[in-house]
Amino acid sequence: MTTTSQQTDQTTDPTTELIDLHPPAADMQQLVRIGLNRCPRQLPAWFLYDEEGSRLFDRICQLPEYSLTRTEIALLEARAPEIAAAIGDGVIIEFGAGSAKKVGPLLDAIHPAAYVALDISAEHLRKATTALQQSHPGVPMLGICCDHSTLTALPEHPLLRDQRRIGFFPGSSLGNFEQHDAVRVLRHFKQLLRGGPLLLGLDQPKSKIRLEAAYNDATGISADFARNLLHRLNADLGANFDPQCFAYQARWQADQQRVEMALISSCNQVVRIAGDRWTFECDEPLITEYSLKYSPERAVALAQQAGWRWVRRWHDPDDDLSLHLLEAPD
Ligand code: AVJ
Repeated sequence: MTTTSQQTDQTTDPTTELIDLHPPAADMQQLVRIGLNRCPRQLPAWFLYDEEGSRLFDRICQLPEYSLTRTEIALLEARAPEIAAAIGDGVIIEFGAGSAKKVGPLLDAIHPAAYVALDISAEHLRKATTALQQSHPGVPMLGICCDHSTLTALPEHPLLRDQRRIGFFPGSSLGNFEQHDAVRVLRHFKQLLRGGPLLLGLDQPKSKIRLEAAYNDATGISADFARNLLHRLNADLGANFDPQCFAYQARWQADQQRVEMALISSCNQVVRIAGDRWTFECDEPLITEYSLKYSPERAVALAQQAGWRWVRRWHDPDDDLSLHLLEAPD
């Protein structure tokens, strides 16, 4: 090989293979109809993650008020060898990989047969897996853009054939689902993983002051992240929301052990979405997402309710959050 062709090889980095199963606009439109007919109004949390939403979420992860991501990465780095020994070998399947900044220590400790990243945001996922592939050239990788909570089966792919499946669901993303749906999602992942284990990261309850600051930061990135939902409905479904006519609010609801994030209509207004007209009363909320927090005891109960066997947990020095190891019952 000549020097010239080697340089060409280095500058044209191949992107990691990506299978795009993003729900089509017609399905999104139907979900919007269902969500806006709910009381209070609420859309699936994955609507927050278009390309700009994923970018804004990455900025949230760097906020001083939002320690979840930093704490979980530090925990993974500190305990990866121990976690690797407990979960064993196979293909790592990450649900909601985002920027894929958490799995590195596990890849180093497990040397898995492959890494499969699932995320709703196609372009973000493509960049994330391509970057991770550079730092871990020995691990074959695949991206799947999808709503993992409704995906009926993982696509047929050589990297997934006859491999033990290890699920990785960090970041407390399960917290976006209300209790009943969280049980359904955990059952569903048990099916997708076909007897393999699940490493589940869950944030724990803490003070109202700390939680409300984490979800409504001083610089307003959390508010921008929520309002971006309206921008994306305008862009992708031809809606005509004026995002400035909605105020952002994040409240810790102790009785439900959750943070409720909402956009509050600041006047009486009518919004058009793909031919439908929706009236928003002054002060009417649109729930953008919930973030449920689980004490270790409640996490065990949740796992068992979903038919998993709870094995153990790892936690950070302040016991802010946990990585729970779940196994399929024999
Ligand atoms: C990605 C669902 C884990 O609940 O902490 C953070 C989302 N929204 N700030 C969380 C979120 C606003 C985040 N999860």
